[in-house]
Amino acid sequence: MALRPIRIAPSILSADFARLGEEVRAIDAAGADYIHIDVMDGHFVPNLTFGAPVVKAIRSATAKPFDVHLMITPVDPLIADFAAAGANIITAHVEAGPHLHRTLQAIKGHSVKAGVALNPATPIESIRHVIGDVDLILLMTVNPGFGGQSFIPILDKIGAARAMIDASGRAIDLEVDGGINPQTARDCIVAGADVLVAGTAVFGKGPAHYADAIKALRG
Ligand code: DX5
Ligand code: ZN
Repeated sequence: MALRPIRIAPSILSADFARLGEEVRAIDAAGADYIHIDVMDGHFVPNLTFGAPVVKAIRSATAKPFDVHLMITPVDPLIADFAAAGANIITAHVEAGPHLHRTLQAIKGHSVKAGVALNPATPIESIRHVIGDVDLILLMTVNPGFGGQSFIPILDKIGAARAMIDASGRAIDLEVDGGINPQTARDCIVAGADVLVAGTAVFGKGPAHYADAIKALRG
């Protein structure tokens, strides 16, 4: 039994881009809790995906929260565009710039939830002094840039983040992202995660299987 409510955030990076609106409607109907949107800039990560106009274009396809994961640097100049496009949570990487506190304030200034993401090698200590400013912590369980990679087992780090959140007394989502399948999902839930991002594991077998795939991740 899960320790806390588990939310599933399918990553549309693995969706059919030619039918993106339909894909968002399909994962909504299949039980997605958040819609995870991976924004890549070909600079912070070695890949390019989509920008705020695409986020705006799919906004009408669902009422579920848009969980926008910014793998870009610099971050601050584009926050307003993603907020205006309909993001509900905007997550920036610790590694994306020298002024994380300023970035988090800028996100909160648009009345959206503020998330902070950490690459696999980045210690959880790097966010201790901004814990009061975040609504979501995203722990990368692959090196960001591509879907379909193998899970990096940072379970001790998930546990340390869970302890930090519980000690803060604040309602902060603990999200894991990369290589999540039913087996690694279970390990992450036990370690303390409560939001699971999944691209390949949700979209891999096609629309007829989205609901079953999402259910299988809940543990
Ligand atoms: C990786 C992205 C992930 C990715 C996950 O840079 O942040 O959200 O889409 O894909 P899977 O679930 O296939 O590892
Ligand atoms: Zn992501």
